[in-house]
Amino acid sequence: MKILITGGAGFIGSAVIRHLIQKTQDQVVNVDKLTYAANLDSLGGTSRSDRYAFEQVDICDRAALEQVFTRHSPDAVMHLAAESHVDRSIDGPAAFIETNIVGTYSLLEVAKTYWLGLDAEHKSTFRFHHVSTDEVYGDLAGTDALFTESTAYAPSSPYSASKASSDHLVRAWQRTYGLPTLITNCSNNYGPCQFPEKLIPLMILNALEAKPLPLYGKGDQVRDWLHVEDHARALCRVLSLGQVGETYNIGGLNEKQNLDVIHSICELLEELVPDNRQSRASGNLQGFSGLITRVQDRPGHDLRYAIDASKIQRELGWVPEESFESGLRKTVQWYLDNPAWIARVKSGAYQQWIDSQYGGRL
Ligand code: NAD
Ligand code: TYD
Repeated sequence: MKILITGGAGFIGSAVIRHLIQKTQDQVVNVDKLTYAANLDSLGGTSRSDRYAFEQVDICDRAALEQVFTRHSPDAVMHLAAESHVDRSIDGPAAFIETNIVGTYSLLEVAKTYWLGLDAEHKSTFRFHHVSTDEVYGDLAGTDALFTESTAYAPSSPYSASKASSDHLVRAWQRTYGLPTLITNCSNNYGPCQFPEKLIPLMILNALEAKPLPLYGKGDQVRDWLHVEDHARALCRVLSLGQVGETYNIGGLNEKQNLDVIHSICELLEELVPDNRQSRASGNLQGFSGLITRVQDRPGHDLRYAIDASKIQRELGWVPEESFESGLRKTVQWYLDNPAWIARVKSGAYQQWIDSQYGGRL
């Protein structure tokens, strides 16, 4: 199968591509604009596979997308390209409206035209898989309920509102035009190659430099954490086995308060960094957790997310392989083992390389 993956240079997209190239015989076409969040380093050796192709394309650019579909004739689309960080969406929502809503619309239109032109056999097997978030369901504060596939949408942030909007467009294209779509809504991911603006990598990298660990509000907010490689496996299973028109929630049953997550990271660093001189040198006798610094809370901050993943487990046989403890340990170890990846992100070299290879094309 040839899968056109949008956002394949991002955190989750690169994990999906590594999985597909290493564990299957599928072909991959990575369609990515290469924003600040993209890092082709994250693909490692998989990008040298003859089953991998790359197209630097903005999903808002319909003409360029049409050319990509014509050139590669994909059997399926897995759509991950998005602006993905809530804090950035609060500071500047425009890019979120543009990519997440308008970009999804333009991709749906191009995919629909392409799908309508397929022969009967390929038309019946084609899939458009839209990758979304549990944040579309809003805030579970004050209850012990879980998000199910029929929970009403109530997004809080510009990010989650833009993703909710894109989910609605995908459902409309399925119902109105018959495009064979699948939607997945996943909880917070963590793991290797995550850009250090999100909670877990930011805390690891700041701690290693003895910088403050910014805790929004009281740190009592709850997220349901899933290792990115478990998410990648779930996405591949949904694409191959999911029922057209269905939605599948994906989550790890790992509800944790932010403050507890940060303390766990600090404890792992105490254990795994034998000589944590930087932390001690800053006069910090409590070790890394002494760096935790309360800062102003995020406006509109959702207090709790939690996923009921029983449908994907029951119908498609997916269960996560990592516990939060095993996954977090591997993640901290990955950042310790990959100083070159971190250095190129911090220095901006990962982007300068992209500019030298692809600069000026967009
Ligand atoms: P990311 O920010 O790490 O990567 C996004 C990728 O999309 C980048 O490579 C970027 O260059 C690309 N991109 C952005 N705008 C584009 C455009 N206009 N055209 C083409 N490419 C563009 O994001 P991520 O964390 O890997 O998330 C991937 C998807 O999964 C997103 O749709 C996100 O909403 C969803 N999701 C993320 C999480 C999470 O915890 N990170 C959880 C659930 C769902
Ligand atoms: P984040 O990784 O940005 O994911 P999301 O907002 O999509 O859940 O944040 C996870 C949680 O951690 C969220 O409740 C906000 C909080 N947070 C902090 O307390 N400090 C930080 O520096 C960051 C980035 C997040």
